[in-house]
Amino acid sequence: MNRTFTPDGPLRGQVTPPADKSISHRAALFGAMNDAPVTVRNYLDADDTQSTLNALRALGAGVDESSPGEMVIRGVGLHAALETTEGRLDVGNSGTLLRLLPGWLAGQAGSAWTLDGDESIRRRPIDRVAKPLREMGATVDAREERFTPMTVHGADLHAIDYTLPVATAQVKSCVLIAGMLASGQTSVTEPAQSRDHTERMLARARVPFERDGLTVRVSATDELELEEITVPADPSSAAFHAAAAAIVPRSRIVLCDIGLNWTRTAFFRVLERMGGVVVGELEQPEDGIRGVEPKGDLDITQAPLEAAEVGGDEVPLAIDELPLVALLGCFAEGETVVRNAEELRVKETDRLAATVDGLRGLGADIEATDDGFVVRGGRGLKGGRIDAQGDHRMAMLGAVAGLASREGVEVVGMEAAGVSYPGFEDDLASLRGG
Ligand code: S3P
Repeated sequence: MNRTFTPDGPLRGQVTPPADKSISHRAALFGAMNDAPVTVRNYLDADDTQSTLNALRALGAGVDESSPGEMVIRGVGLHAALETTEGRLDVGNSGTLLRLLPGWLAGQAGSAWTLDGDESIRRRPIDRVAKPLREMGATVDAREERFTPMTVHGADLHAIDYTLPVATAQVKSCVLIAGMLASGQTSVTEPAQSRDHTERMLARARVPFERDGLTVRVSATDELELEEITVPADPSSAAFHAAAAAIVPRSRIVLCDIGLNWTRTAFFRVLERMGGVVVGELEQPEDGIRGVEPKGDLDITQAPLEAAEVGGDEVPLAIDELPLVALLGCFAEGETVVRNAEELRVKETDRLAATVDGLRGLGADIEATDDGFVVRGGRGLKGGRIDAQGDHRMAMLGAVAGLASREGVEVVGMEAAGVSYPGFEDDLASLRGG
């Protein structure tokens, strides 16, 4: 499905983006690991999070989606009383499901589940979860040792102390979930903080765990104690509208009920640093210790932008928004540089290449480096055609680029947005007064 986005005036008004994808995956998974039913409000209704519900149903959990905006999950318990102990699970396009679910399956002795997904999933590495799970005692078979189809043979796990080679919330979460099922106390240390939704969910479920700087420790537990979870709107989805409002002249919008967890809001901090006007109560790191998921409104006004440098500890906290930093860079005075972002190569597409090639095709002066990109900005974008390559975030990037370009942008494969944001075009149209 091709769609063209043209520059025709400012963005105005307010919108509530869809529910957070990361928190929705975790809410469903933790709900399935709970013994008593868990009510999840505002669960994300998108392709990725439907894949999670389907996988959990296949494992025996009940999912009642009968009331709008509210879902009840009837779990099978942490030490899953699985009716079926082997089979195939289709993760669709979801890297998060592919990395988190094996943590639970690895602790189910006597069961064997094979996970597979779409073409993009088949290119994404899973050795990063296979390695710690094997160290904990599970057997994991994978194509060429690092790709799906991947079979997880559950076992009686034992605790490990694991140091992640790269900061990734997906792998951290996998080990923490397996840690709840392993004898002893498991620790995970990351080189930099990544999003901490799993830790906050552990706190909610009253699982014994502690944080100590970049180390999280979790102990074996019998059961979770979750009752209800309300999912805030996704800051990564909101970031597309925020970027549009920051660069389309005379725009001002309000984004409502956005998750403001500080491990997710680095993009908004970068936007402010570039001169963007962002009004809202972003969470501070010290508040994150409380374990709740804060939410609130963000008010964004277009303003002249200056180039920024993004690298180091900020990268995992803005990982999904880095393509948008490149877009902002096209409209900012000076040279915008992103470093230490090689993880982008193993997302739904190689997002370094997709961002650089895509924006260059629209007239950007942008170059890839080994671990990021450099954008020489200030001259905006002419427009043209961009192929989403099946990646939801590339599709939405192309749409926003179109609104800010001189001649408009045709996005090839706009349907990919449905992976995280099925109503994206409607919400964008409403901000444009349509
Ligand atoms: C996610 C973590 C991020 C992000 C992905 C969702 C998660 O990946 O890119 O979209 O829900 O844990 P990392 O594992 O690189 O942090």
